[in-house]
Amino acid sequence: LSVAIAFGGVSVEHEISILSAMQAIAAFPDAYEIVPLYIAKDGRMYSDASFQKTEVFQDLTKVTQENYEVQLVREHQRVLMQWKKHHFWKTSRVIDFVLPILHGTNGEDGSFQGFLKTLHVPFAQCGVLSGALGQDKVAMKMILQDQGLPLVPWFYWWKQEPLEEAFFAKAQRLGYPMIIKPSNLGSSIGIAVVQNAQELKKAMEEGFQYDDKIVIEKVITPLREINASVLGDMEDAKCSVLEEVVKQDTILSFQDKYEGHAKSKGMAGTNRRVPASLEKEEAQEITSYALASFQALQAEGVVRIDFLMNADTKDIYVNEINSIPGSLAYYLWEASGLTFTKLLEELIQLGMK
Ligand code: DAL
Ligand code: MG
Repeated sequence: LSVAIAFGGVSVEHEISILSAMQAIAAFPDAYEIVPLYIAKDGRMYSDASFQKTEVFQDLTKVTQENYEVQLVREHQRVLMQWKKHHFWKTSRVIDFVLPILHGTNGEDGSFQGFLKTLHVPFAQCGVLSGALGQDKVAMKMILQDQGLPLVPWFYWWKQEPLEEAFFAKAQRLGYPMIIKPSNLGSSIGIAVVQNAQELKKAMEEGFQYDDKIVIEKVITPLREINASVLGDMEDAKCSVLEEVVKQDTILSFQDKYEGHAKSKGMAGTNRRVPASLEKEEAQEITSYALASFQALQAEGVVRIDFLMNADTKDIYVNEINSIPGSLAYYLWEASGLTFTKLLEELIQLGMK
């Protein structure tokens, strides 16, 4: 069976996807033939090494603005250069199955999944609907809320609606400080914590540069962040051990998120504690919400569900689902007794069902 691993992609998480794919390829079960499917930043797909001659790839070599980008790009180039020599860069392979290891826009949001569906190629991970639900915070919250899952107090606002009295009255009822998030973008872009109406207005206007819909949430303090991975489908799913994200900032900034990612082996870097140190009942509660969220969003394969916890009251809230989590959350499964190779095997089997 030949398995195409789709990676790269047009989103801001392009480099992260390359790292995740690299990790998966290193652990891939021998029984399958790997066909690389690299999606360049301009959306073109390559299953041979010719992308290295393209402008897109050349452009990547010029990125010098910020440290984390440089690091990721270097890693990216190193890997891709290595792969040039790799036997699997051959053209005209038949693809029997696709494993998308793409993060964010067009890769994780159901678009790529819809494309595969129209080609009648079986694939792993979430389908069109669950991918889309996972990417749109408003849609996701509505579904989870409908199923009675606990969410941080929130509301949302359209770009077309004026930022006037009605809006500020709603915000006042929610209470400051609050956190504003574009509904559709991940990677902490356009996210801001605001303390008063003035800051709120400014952050909303900035946020609307990224999306037409903004989610406004009450800030939880003191905050703990706990993540769980769920593996399975609608018939049967299991939850991994839990991890705690350990950091100083209120938001996991783009840099924190990805620099930690790039430096460490998988996402299990120094800023993560696996397993999270929790009371048995707390862990059980989070696990049951993780499984219920997976079900509510009709997820499939391996996902990561992120929780917020008020460290004082111990109240727990579902924050979001990552339908193609960084590193495929393998480090949480390893800690639960399932090797990355076995995890990949299960993903293929689930996708073939
Ligand atoms: N979107 C990234 C890869 C994650 O949170 O896992
Ligand atoms: Mg995400």
